[in-house]
Formats: sequence, C-alpha cells, structure tokens
Amino acid sequence: MSPAPSATAAAGGKVILLGEHAVVYGSPALALGLDRGATASVRLAQRTGLSLGGQHYAIDAGKLSSAEPAVALAFRALLGALGAPSVMAEASLQIPAGAGLGASAALGVALARAVVELTGGSPDVPLGEAVSRAAMVWENVFHGNASGIDTAAAEQGGCLWFTRSEGARPLAVGGAMQVSVALVEPGASTLRMVEAVAERRRADRRGVDLVIDSIADLARRARQAISLGDFTELGRLMTQNHQLLVELGVSTPGLDQACGWAIQAGALGAKLTGAGGGGCVIALVDDRTRPVVVEAWARRGLTCLEARCAATQP
Ligand code: PMV
Repeated sequence: MSPAPSATAAAGGKVILLGEHAVVYGSPALALGLDRGATASVRLAQRTGLSLGGQHYAIDAGKLSSAEPAVALAFRALLGALGAPSVMAEASLQIPAGAGLGASAALGVALARAVVELTGGSPDVPLGEAVSRAAMVWENVFHGNASGIDTAAAEQGGCLWFTRSEGARPLAVGGAMQVSVALVEPGASTLRMVEAVAERRRADRRGVDLVIDSIADLARRARQAISLGDFTELGRLMTQNHQLLVELGVSTPGLDQACGWAIQAGALGAKLTGAGGGGCVIALVDDRTRPVVVEAWARRGLTCLEARCAATQP
C-alpha cells in the first residue's frame, strides 16, 4: 500500500515593534517577523487529529463542545474554513507559546499552509487568501477579537506596517535592524489582556483613547525612522511606547525591570512585546550593544531567545 499523501509547511513568529493593543482599535502597528515559529505536517487519514507538544487531540467531526480544548476547537474551525477532508496533523513550535511572540498564529498559518498544500485548496479562492482566512479563524478561537497582525506577520515575515482596515504592507528598512528578545516570565492570555484594556476603556473612554492615539502617533513616527534607518529615534519611540503600555495597565514589574536592564546596558530602546501581562520584552540593539544587553539579561536569569529578527528590503 502506498503511503497517504502528506504535506509539510512552516511559518514564523513575530515581535511587535510598536502599536500592540492600539492596533485592536484601528491604529497602525509595526511588526518584525522572526525566522522561526512553527512547523506542521498533515496527511490524509480516516479520523482527524492533531499532535502538538506531546499531546494528541482527537477531533470528532460530529461533536462540538465548548469543553473541548481550544486547540481542538481551533483546528476543527481551521479545517472547516478550508473545506478540508479528515487529516492527521503533527505540529511543533520553535518559540515559546503564550509569550507574545505570535506562536498561535505561526501554528495556524503552518497548519493552514500544509492543509492547502495537501488538498490543493479550492478553485474559487486564491491559495494565499485561503490560508489567511483559515489562520484568522484559528486565531480568533484563542484571541476572540484578533487584529490580524500576528497572522499577517506569520505569513509574510520581514518588517510590516499593519492596520486592521488595510492589512499588512512590507516596509523598506534603511539599515540593519537588530532586536534581541528576553523571555521574562510566563505570559498572560492575549484574550484576557485585550479584554482588560477594553474594560479599562469602558470605564475611562477619553483617557484610554488618548493613550491609543499617542501610541498611533509613535507608530507613524517609527515608520519614518525605520525607513530612514534612524535607529536612535526608533529606540526612543519604542521606550515611549512601553510607558504608554504601562499606562494601559498591561505591563508588569518584571517586564519594566527587564526593559530597564536593557537600556542600562546600552540598548537604543526597550519595551514589552505582544499582549503583556508577562511574556517577553524586546530591545533594539546593534552589533556593539547586542552582547552587552544579552549578558545583562542572562546575568539576571532571563532566557534570551536566539531567534534572529530578519529585516527585509522589499
Ligand atoms: O498574540 P500577542 O500576545 O502577540 O498579542 C497580539 C497583539 C495584540 O494587539 C495585543 C492583540 C491583537 O490581536 O492585535
């Protein structure tokens, strides 16, 4: 008997350089793709299932229960969006989950790409669009009201300008841009952090909208700084963005401290990245400051990710 047809695909994680949370309300944000994220392979099978991180999720087409793990619900939704047959999937992550690095989006994009590669997709929908849609369906199971920046970064990589209304645009970077990442503490759920900001906004609409507008302004200036290769300015804007995220209530003492250590060690700027409530911080560095910043973090027991952020020149 010949083996069942199979397909394998990958997608990258991301860091958000500026604009998280504000992007949910329509403001622009800047993301940088990581060169590692998730891989997935799928094969046609009698029954649908997903193996991930040592766990196997059996997905029964007949039953739909909110008691099912989110991963199972998300995979079922992704397959439904693609009109896919029964498949057995195996996926793995090369970045930590729930730390603001876009692990769930990378998984969704890798799985959707593998399924589309296996089935050939549908003749009416361009393959890239089918992957985007299915990955968003997956992502919304975890995030509720995802802006789409994580899935866009997982699909495209490089340096991106993103708005909810217009999606992602690749940005030309006017020089070598280096970002170091430190895993500070376990992350909080993105869904919960996005909801916490919404709750704060319900209580103080004017105050929170002012912060959101200020973040949007920083993101616009950062876009300009990136295209000019003015990384001193970009770093300053990132650090200011962190302060505004503190005002939004999504930072933690651990994240603030890790940013401070990076700045003391010579980073051009530092901020939390992603939803906050824990997770990672990023620091804008250069060849000279990268080892000093990484050493300063490592000395305090922080895990520094070796994932490199590759800026592209479109
Ligand atoms: O998935 P995370 O933790 O990288 O957060 C994504 C960024 C948010 O702006 C907080 C949410 C979103 O959907 O844009």
